[in-house]
Amino acid sequence: MEPRKIRDNIYSLGFIDWDSRLFDALIPLPDGTSYNSYLIEGSEKTVLIDTVESSHFHELEAQLKNVPKLDYVISLHAEQDHSGSIPQVLALYPDAKLITSAKAKGLLMDILPISEESIIIVSDGETLSLGDKTLEFIFTPWVHWPETMVAYLQEDKILFSCDFFGAHIATTDLFVTDEARVYEAAKRYYAEVMMPFRKIIDKNLDKISAYDIDLIAPSHGQIYPRPSFIIDAHKEWVSSRLKNTVVLPYVSMHHSTKMMVDFLTSSLVKKGVNVELFNLTVTDIGKLAMALVDAGTIVIGTPTVLSGPHPNVVYGAYLANALRPKVKFLSIIGSYGWGGKSVEILAGMIPNLKVEVLDPVLIKGVPTDLDFEALENLAQTIAAKHQELGFE
Ligand SMILES: Cc1cc2nc3c(=O)[nH]c(=O)nc-3n(C[C@H](O)[C@H](O)[C@H](O)COP(=O)(O)O)c2cc1C
Ligand SMILES: [Fe+2]
Ligand SMILES: [Fe+2]
Repeated sequence: MEPRKIRDNIYSLGFIDWDSRLFDALIPLPDGTSYNSYLIEGSEKTVLIDTVESSHFHELEAQLKNVPKLDYVISLHAEQDHSGSIPQVLALYPDAKLITSAKAKGLLMDILPISEESIIIVSDGETLSLGDKTLEFIFTPWVHWPETMVAYLQEDKILFSCDFFGAHIATTDLFVTDEARVYEAAKRYYAEVMMPFRKIIDKNLDKISAYDIDLIAPSHGQIYPRPSFIIDAHKEWVSSRLKNTVVLPYVSMHHSTKMMVDFLTSSLVKKGVNVELFNLTVTDIGKLAMALVDAGTIVIGTPTVLSGPHPNVVYGAYLANALRPKVKFLSIIGSYGWGGKSVEILAGMIPNLKVEVLDPVLIKGVPTDLDFEALENLAQTIAAKHQELGFE
């Protein structure tokens, strides 16, 4: 695709990835994604902000064919989906310098063949004059990696945010048109990439609130012509507010755990608590991550397999622990045949979750009336806790 004009002398370049179905070899991409690169032609200097994965360099190269001179390439984030083509771009423009932060410099040199002489380091708040346009660099650590920064184009009030405010959607829209669709994709993105750094993201949101922003141009997804839409969504996700929802990831081989899951779900719903079920043998793990963004409670359902939790449940628990959701309560339910350590193993896997653990319900074989009573009590406890803390 040809470069697309955003404003006079400001263009969107990059690659729309309609085909990829997995990001970071981890999170499903039901709608593909995009890797955006931005070209700004100032009256004196021309810059390219970020590049694309090296395997897509030829797309970027074709878009640069009418750009005779590039003074600077700016790397906002060292990860390969944005930095991968930097060596090829620098080879195309041997006089161009690479601008990045000191932290990113180290990371970039660790992963790409880039010579130290070509790098100019900028610090937080530093500006770069392009003649009639001025870019200001704002350090926003952990809006994916520790080195991430964003760039604010002062005259045009555009925030180039890289992964911050990213969304995985492949579309030919240059600007966001369907906010509901983008909300879903951006929440998936936040859940996978940003949720573990929620408190720092909150500080970064405060930091950028000092800027008057007309457009946010991220490196995945579309440009936001109404920045408050995506900023407010992030404020909500990082806030301490929790929903009156139980996230229930589970596996069941012979249906006993599933009977427990169904009973607990029905009992919780009767008490006014919402439940989101995730059968971990078929679930889209991105949907689970999204549900974890604001759920009040997690209940893990597992049969005992070879003395411990089912391996898919181990995966789900490991992921939940790594994503550090703000969840407040956790319990474990499941069925076993003769014995094992499912609860102990799972409890030991979630040190990052600052939760109150509610009494697990582990039963032998197919659930009996007594087992359903224990599940009814668990539902009652969860409903009462949610009500007490005002989860909505
Ligand atoms: C592959 C496999 C391994 C199992 N390993 C154990 C085990 O180590 N300890 C145990 O108590 N039960 C074990 N069981 C029995 C199950 O935990 C038991 O059948 C349970 O009721 C299954 O729950 P489900 O119907 O939700 O799958 C195993 C079952 C299977 C199929
Ligand atoms: Fe990233
Ligand atoms: Fe990225």
